[in-house]
Amino acid sequence: MASALAATVAAVRGRIGHRAPEIAVVLGSGLGGLAERLADAVRIPYAEIPGFHVPTVQGHSGELVVGTLAGRSVVAQSGRFHLYEGHTAGVAALPARLFAELGVTTFVVTNAAGGIRPDFRAGTLMLITDHLNLTGQNPLTGPVLPGEQRFPDMSAAYDPALRALALEVAREQGTPLEQGVYAALSGPSYETPAEIRMLRTLGADAVGMSTVPEVIVANARGMRCLGISTVTNAAAGVSDAKLSHAEVMETAAQVGQRLGDLIEGVVARV
Ligand code: HPA
Repeated sequence: MASALAATVAAVRGRIGHRAPEIAVVLGSGLGGLAERLADAVRIPYAEIPGFHVPTVQGHSGELVVGTLAGRSVVAQSGRFHLYEGHTAGVAALPARLFAELGVTTFVVTNAAGGIRPDFRAGTLMLITDHLNLTGQNPLTGPVLPGEQRFPDMSAAYDPALRALALEVAREQGTPLEQGVYAALSGPSYETPAEIRMLRTLGADAVGMSTVPEVIVANARGMRCLGISTVTNAAAGVSDAKLSHAEVMETAAQVGQRLGDLIEGVVARV
């Protein structure tokens, strides 16, 4: 694993030259528009990065974009690796390990999620305060990689200072920003209504199929994490509507501009 990571890092370093990204932004389903905002950008297709896979899901484009956003050096990850595609948690978290090696210290993740809280509407933005790892996997399983801890503390997995900053920027921009706990399941089937009732009892406010592997590695590497979910639909049984990926994509695209403004505002002041 360590040598596979070295090949990944070498390939990306070879492409980005003098650029040294300090902030990484992971763009979830349908939220790829933020990558267009980067100035002076180098775009690296996943096909050119050893260890990276070409995404199989519509809405995930599959490139790293390294450039400048709000005057800061940023790497945007457009497309992620999901457990439901057959990837291990280690593969899902490979980009996070790469970013740490490149010197990134602030890790921003976005995702699409189902709303468990009944007052969440399609298009609600939720600042992730904490998560439930219900995927049955952990990307740190196996040998401890250089620069990582065996038993990382997860008691402030989503950095309190970054959360406070995001709330402040959202308030200034007039963007409503809810807060809550994100539960990650491996998918790919959406949950049953009974599973959603279980998740609510466990303390989850939103549910999705990503984010947690990356955030675990980011914490093990000492990066500060910020996570924002776009609630794209009411979770199963919360409303009578049927769930569809098309609806998820459509809502995510509608909210993309607002979420992009919020992230850009945070990046400017990190
Ligand atoms: N469940 C799980 N993942 C999701 C959902 C959902 O309802 N919506 C978007 N991603």
